[in-house]
Amino acid sequence: AMRKVVSIVGAGNVGEHVASLIATKGFADIRLFDIPRKDGDKVFEPVKGKALDMKQMVAAMDVDTKIDGFTVTPEGEGYEPMVDSDIVVITAGFPRRPGMSREDLLEANIRILSTIIARVRQYAPNSILIIVTNPVDIMTYAAFKLSGFPASRVIGMAGVLDSARFKTFIAEELRVSPKDIHAYVIGGHGDEMVPLISISNVGGIPLKDLIPKDKLSELIERTRFGGGEIVNLMGTSAYYAPAAAVVDMVEALVTNSRRILPCSVYLDGEAGEYYGVKGFCVGVPVKLGANGVEEIIKVPMLEEERQMWNRSVESVKRSIEIAEVMLGEKS
Ligand code: APR
Repeated sequence: AMRKVVSIVGAGNVGEHVASLIATKGFADIRLFDIPRKDGDKVFEPVKGKALDMKQMVAAMDVDTKIDGFTVTPEGEGYEPMVDSDIVVITAGFPRRPGMSREDLLEANIRILSTIIARVRQYAPNSILIIVTNPVDIMTYAAFKLSGFPASRVIGMAGVLDSARFKTFIAEELRVSPKDIHAYVIGGHGDEMVPLISISNVGGIPLKDLIPKDKLSELIERTRFGGGEIVNLMGTSAYYAPAAAVVDMVEALVTNSRRILPCSVYLDGEAGEYYGVKGFCVGVPVKLGANGVEEIIKVPMLEEERQMWNRSVESVKRSIEIAEVMLGEKS
């Protein structure tokens, strides 16, 4: 079979690290897209420079990945090389700037997304979309609406990252390899995310039997604010773990591995008795294979987890209602 092609739109911190990890692992070819950067009257094309640098990186590492970079315009020109991509990862967007409300940010990022999705529809209508841009549950919903793709091909990245953060803290606490930890974080990608303690385990042993309740609450809090902790240290948002989380998802799709990973997906009442979500996107464990989301995994929740779930879902729903108005104005 031909090698799969992964297009990445937005070769900023997260996008370039996704590219570099896939290149290193060598399981797909990569096409990077980003806008030019102006500095006074000089115009740079960082995306081309990064692709060239990575091309030389793989030559130095003896791996066979093809990497190319393409400069596009914010108006949507230059996307022809996206043609026939199997997967399109979207990280493009503005970070939140001082004085900008969440809604301003949302509006700006939805505008960028709608231009990109129009090109995806044109050049890669059979691709699987992975949405990274925040607020991710809302952007995934917007991508679902704007693309007209089936829900199985529009997937938001959040749960894999939140779960990796949770695993990191558990691993440090118990002095055990993160490989042997199964811990799932679901719900909205925000302060109200839901760690599923009842099904989390270390080497098969339930988490709640290994870590005292107080300590566990501490680890959960740290997970919830895991993104903020890094922003406070770096002055910009995290990218190593987010990129690795995206790559985990991409690899599952490309290799048809059927891994179970928590992802933000559009639920239209599926597994309703478990999740009770109809008409928006939120993080649940799903099975990822060659066709995208192949199954919504049904997780029984304890009463207190369910309450957390309901709160998290409510807050996503409120933001979706705001986004809905903006999307309405688009069409
Ligand atoms: N078309 C293509 N690329 C764009 C466009 C556009 N219209 N607008 C912005 N970009 C590019 C920027 O040039 C930049 O390179 O998107 C990239 C975003 O990268 P960063 O600003 O470095 O942000 P990053 O840290 O990678 O985060 C990207 O992922 O985790 C989320 O919250 C995070 O929403 C953010 C996204």
